[in-house]
Amino acid sequence: MSDVLQSLGLRAEESGCFAGEWQRGAGEEMTSIDPSTGRPLARVRGASHEQYDAAVAEAARAFALWRLVPAPLRGQAVRAIAEALRAEKRALGALIARETGKIVPEAEGEVQEMIDVADYAVGLSRQLTGATMPSERPSHRMMEQWHPLGVVGCITAFNFPAAVWAWNALLAAVCGDAVVWKPSEEAPLTAIAVTRIANDVLRSLGHPPIFSLVCGGRDLGERMASDPRIPLVSATGSCGMGRAVGEAVARRLGRSLLELGGNNAVVVLDDADLELATRAVLFGAVGTAGQRCTTTRRLLVQRGVAADLTRRLLAAYARVTIGDPLDASTLMGPLINVRAVASMQEALATARAQGAEVLCGGTRVERDGFFVTPAIVRAPRGLPIAHEETFAPILYVFEIDSIQDAIAMNNEVRQGLSSAVFTRSIAASERFLSAVGSDCGIANVNLGTSGAEIGGAFGGEKDTGGGRESGSDSWKAYMRRQTCTINYGDALPLAQGINFGDA
Ligand code: UN1
Repeated sequence: MSDVLQSLGLRAEESGCFAGEWQRGAGEEMTSIDPSTGRPLARVRGASHEQYDAAVAEAARAFALWRLVPAPLRGQAVRAIAEALRAEKRALGALIARETGKIVPEAEGEVQEMIDVADYAVGLSRQLTGATMPSERPSHRMMEQWHPLGVVGCITAFNFPAAVWAWNALLAAVCGDAVVWKPSEEAPLTAIAVTRIANDVLRSLGHPPIFSLVCGGRDLGERMASDPRIPLVSATGSCGMGRAVGEAVARRLGRSLLELGGNNAVVVLDDADLELATRAVLFGAVGTAGQRCTTTRRLLVQRGVAADLTRRLLAAYARVTIGDPLDASTLMGPLINVRAVASMQEALATARAQGAEVLCGGTRVERDGFFVTPAIVRAPRGLPIAHEETFAPILYVFEIDSIQDAIAMNNEVRQGLSSAVFTRSIAASERFLSAVGSDCGIANVNLGTSGAEIGGAFGGEKDTGGGRESGSDSWKAYMRRQTCTINYGDALPLAQGINFGDA
């Protein structure tokens, strides 16, 4: 039994069902695999459909109490959760590294992202403010207020198995909601550890357990999407999954918050600082083994620096150390599973067949686990495979002529999550950020596409799903807005000056 599990009190057999309390999972049994060895970490018994129903019912019961707790006191509870996460940062980071294969600095960064969003939510708990607006009627007042929404469904992916829950759940918590979480089948242990930490804190403070957990397969996600007891479903994953969730939620006129695939480009213009660009593209394309939704997948480089930048990148890629994600010298861990290895190899074969040249990488590393070498591909314009998101470290390099050309190529894919330009030109960078610039939800200047801070709204347009999570005013998704008009006079004037049978 690995120390990584033990330090968080996880056993070789775990239950992935929390419905008011921990239950013995009666649903699908899944095995959490260590992608760096291919060997099992633990077995997890997921929630049955009856347990799913109970988890939603318990969340609704917790919600009925939790919404009565004043928002700033809900914030105090989230602050205590942040403290617990701080205390467990190393242990949770190690578990995330083991279960997903991301290297420790990135795994601990993910826990830090949870802590950051918790701190943000604490401040927010005193700022869930509505506007007031002047009424057109005498002795009337108008205002809007924000009320807790209800039970929020949260479907998360393997690649950020904890932070994305935190973006949703900790904001939802200060907003007065309860949450039912269906984590990825690839990362149930992280979900169990996080749910335990959060609910233990709530219990110690005498609050209801608002964080339900239902580990399981796609069928549980489908239940959630069509469940009228869940006014909001927040889902992170592939465009295909998001479309299915979005359609099912829309059919019952629920709300969905979708954070789906990206196909993010970095534009490098002739006047760019190539040293900065090289480092940013390396982190963006190779970080998390290319398995972030914000991963840099396309490099759009102006002709004058294409050869130089490609040479620098090839040199940087040659130095990438691949190995155990818990080893301090490792820069890139494994892919999540053998299917991910196969889809990377299929994408590269397709790229070659479509006329691209693989300049480096793309081979499976001869050792246990799901290790590959990161690939750079010289791509002819219009390469069809580059329109698809392959969740692996493949960087397609295209040459472009101008900022206008780069913007057109940036925008020609169906996804619209993140984008970046490297330039010293104010005109070019402002154009990239302008209304005729990048069409993505995130647009950066002189930094890469990934590694966003929590303070901004996170998400993207088009097939990325349109949702926004984390910072800025994303909290509004987790509340219901009420417009209130109050008449403190003795008369009943009607709006629009209507006279309705008045003497
Ligand atoms: C994701 O891959 O689903 O901006 C989220 C980033 C991280 C979050 C990625 N803060 O890369």
